[in-house]
This record gives sequence, structure tokens and C-alpha cells, in this order.
Amino acid sequence: MVRCLPSFASRSLSWNVNKNQIKMNRKILMMFAVIATAISIHAQNIELPSPQKNGGLPINQALAERHSEREFNPDKTISLQTVSDLLWATCGINRVESGMRTNPTARNFQEIDAYWFDSTGVYLYDFKENALIQKAEGDYRNLVAGTSQFKQDFVIEAPASIVLVSDTAKAGLTCALIDAGIACENINLFCTGNGLATVPRMTMDVNGIQQLLSLPETSLPVLNNPVGYAK
Ligand SMILES: Cc1cc2nc3c(=O)[nH]c(=O)nc-3n(C[C@H](O)[C@H](O)[C@H](O)COP(=O)(O)O)c2cc1C
Repeated sequence: MVRCLPSFASRSLSWNVNKNQIKMNRKILMMFAVIATAISIHAQNIELPSPQKNGGLPINQALAERHSEREFNPDKTISLQTVSDLLWATCGINRVESGMRTNPTARNFQEIDAYWFDSTGVYLYDFKENALIQKAEGDYRNLVAGTSQFKQDFVIEAPASIVLVSDTAKAGLTCALIDAGIACENINLFCTGNGLATVPRMTMDVNGIQQLLSLPETSLPVLNNPVGYAK
């Protein structure tokens, strides 16, 4: 009996240890699952390298050479550094102290968002964090190309398109349209100055893009620029 006791006690102790171990293992597994989910969600976003704020053609030469290009080389992709430089030129911060932007907006409404469409997904340019925030996974460049009524197939040949979305609730329709035009010209001039090809476009599936990105009716895709390298 006396000899039995330690053996019983040790068995129940080991059972408790096993139960505790199982609980602990479950907790560890849960923690790994949470971390893995967080990493996979985070992995969909793309951190951009710091934008280079020098280089390119002198502005007068870029003005002299700017033109619309509609033939893109589908095999020549855009480096992440160039994506960062291009989006910074579109609507990034150029005065860190005040948070003012490369694109002027009426009354500094700052109502323009730039979305990056490529073969992997659709991303919102986070101008504060210098990152691309994934909003949809998959290739939606066909929505930029147009609708079933009118589509321009060359858009799919370009490795990416920038879609400028104006918040008309913030700025009113007139300012929202004008301000999109200004950001668009930043893209046109940056592209000419840095060896990229582009064309400013109004054609796109506005409703399709609003639905895809869960945008309210007041957030209007106004203009887009397919970007890439000329054929
Ligand atoms: C507001 C605006 C909308 C445009 N929409 C389209 C378009 O949907 N598709 C297209 O191929 N070009 C479009 N363009 C490009 C013009 O056709 C082009 O800028 C014009 O023919 C002048 O040529 P350039 O840009 O070479 O000077 C648009 C241009 C602007 C300014």
C-alpha cells in the first residue's frame, strides 16, 4: 500500500503533466496560427524602397518629349524602386514637416488616391508609409482597359496601371476632377523623364472598379495611366 502510493501519485502526476502539456501545445499551436495569419496578411502588402527624388530628364526636356504611348512591351516589368519613384511623383509627400504633396490640390483637400493595378493584384498607394496596401488579389487590369462596350486592349499589355480615384465628398466634383488631372500630369512627366511609356485615359470600367474596391459612389475613378516600357 505504502509502496503503491508513490506509483499511483506519480501516475496521476504524469497524467496532469500530460494534460498541461496538451494545453500548452494547443496554446503554442494557436499562437503560431495567429502569427502565421498575421504574416500572410502582412505579406500581401508591399513595402516600397525610399523614393529617389533626383534624376530623370530636366523638366523642360520632359515637357518637350512628352507624348502618349499606346504600345507596351509586356515582358519588361517595372522595378520596385521605379514603382516607388513613380508613385511618389504622382502624389507622394514632398514636404515632410507639413505632409504636403507632389500634386497640388484645391484648398489642399488631398482627395486623390492612387491605386496600382498589376498582374498580382490591386494596391492602394500608402503615401505616408511608402507602401502598397493590397485591396484585391488577382489581375484586374481588364477593368482598367474598359467595358464590354468599349475596351482598349493595349492596357493589358502594360505591366501596370495607376488609377486615380477622387473623393468628391471631400472636394466637390469640379475640384476632384481638376485635381485628378494634375496628378495625372505628374505621371505623364515622370514617365517621359524616366524612360517609361504612358497615356492618360478616361476609359475604364468605373462601376466595376468601385465595386471591386468597395468604394462609395462619391469616390470616383477619374483617370488612369497604363505604365511600362514602350515596345
Ligand atoms: C482627360 C483625357 C482623357 C483621355 N482619355 C483617353 C482614353 O480613354 N484612351 C486613350 O487612348 N487616350 C486618351 N487620352 C489621350 C489623348 O487622346 C491624347 O493625350 C491626345 O490625343 C494628345 O496626344 P498626346 O498626349 O500625345 O499629346 C486622354 C487624354 C486626356 C487629357
